[in-house]
Amino acid sequence: RTIESLGQLRSKTVIVRCDLNVPLADGEITDDGRIRASLTTIRELREAGARIVLISHLGRPAGAPEERYSLRPVAVRMAELLGAPVAFVGETVGTEASAAVSALGDGDVVLLENLRFNPGETSKDAEERRAFAASLAEFGDAFVSDGFGVVHRRQASVTELAEALPSAAGRLVEAELRVLERLTVTPERPYAVVLGGSKVSDKLGVISHLIERVDTLLIGGGMVFTFLAAQGHAVASSLLEADQLDTVRGYLADAEKRGVRIVLPTDIVVAERFAADAAHEVVAADAIDGSSFGAAGIGLDIGPASAAAFAAVIAEAKTVFWNGPMGVFEMAAFAEGTRTVARALTETDGFTVVGGGDSAAAVRALGFRDDQFGHISTGGGASLEFLEGKTLPGLEVLA
Ligand code: 3PG
Repeated sequence: RTIESLGQLRSKTVIVRCDLNVPLADGEITDDGRIRASLTTIRELREAGARIVLISHLGRPAGAPEERYSLRPVAVRMAELLGAPVAFVGETVGTEASAAVSALGDGDVVLLENLRFNPGETSKDAEERRAFAASLAEFGDAFVSDGFGVVHRRQASVTELAEALPSAAGRLVEAELRVLERLTVTPERPYAVVLGGSKVSDKLGVISHLIERVDTLLIGGGMVFTFLAAQGHAVASSLLEADQLDTVRGYLADAEKRGVRIVLPTDIVVAERFAADAAHEVVAADAIDGSSFGAAGIGLDIGPASAAAFAAVIAEAKTVFWNGPMGVFEMAAFAEGTRTVARALTETDGFTVVGGGDSAAAVRALGFRDDQFGHISTGGGASLEFLEGKTLPGLEVLA
């Protein structure tokens, strides 16, 4: 159901669930992509004369207020980007929140404090989630679900609130789904997926699902070392998930049977220790323990030959999905792999999608612009689960 299904919205109070979970450093927003991505729906609702109550989580507080997870800086940035006032209330539900909502005029916007300061939001108990959703529902006449980054979560503001009020998907959720369906329904081939990030265990479902659907799977990031170890190579002190070795061997065998190419790095940037100023050198991927640092060596990025090989696959692809950095891109010495892959995505003629808050923040931090990619998804976990073919609770409830 889209916003049209909600009918006339003038003077109606509409609760909008956004994903305003932005990265903060010392209280400053370091990447405002998710705030920008929320604006389309908010602008449209303002023009329709709705009274807008924005709700979101930020980080993972444990059900109680914590100043470092306050949404206050987000309200300030949102107002700048929207070019209109965004009131902020330092609680999610309660008399102060209630008064702020009642004071809204047509087109006005208020942002309530972090949903996850309330234990009901993420409770495992459906009754507790329902009770919290009911207290939120009192604020509005209708609900718009636009936090694409959380549609894979069964949480009060995503699922139970949608059940409690007339509800619809917002424009961001609509746009994200249009793009991701292009990847799942009939992707133009060759279809290449680049996966990075530290843990294989976070990507198990998506890897086994993708092996059945893609032409080439490029593996970078900390995950690489579990793949290399599964092939029998020593990885010195690099990140290794020993309990995943058999699973990874299974992937390699399955891919071979299906004629899917899994491309692993052939060279690795190995550092003396995990630090931005650590001594480092490039070694062959099957000789990591032969670096000058011996058993202490830690692989922190894919090497230049691997990055070039990944870029060549991306250049030939008609569809590319990328999730997860290739190395520790936050440290300049280990950012080259991620930068080369990002550049290849901007240069290919194929349709490119960058999935995930972290990957999006990585490409922006490296100086790339959003419009250099086909699409930058605001949802990391959500886009991966969508590609896995899982039913996402926050979407199911809007069907
Ligand atoms: C994200 O950053 O992927 C979303 O905001 C969801 O956050 P969560 O993983 O803490 O639910």
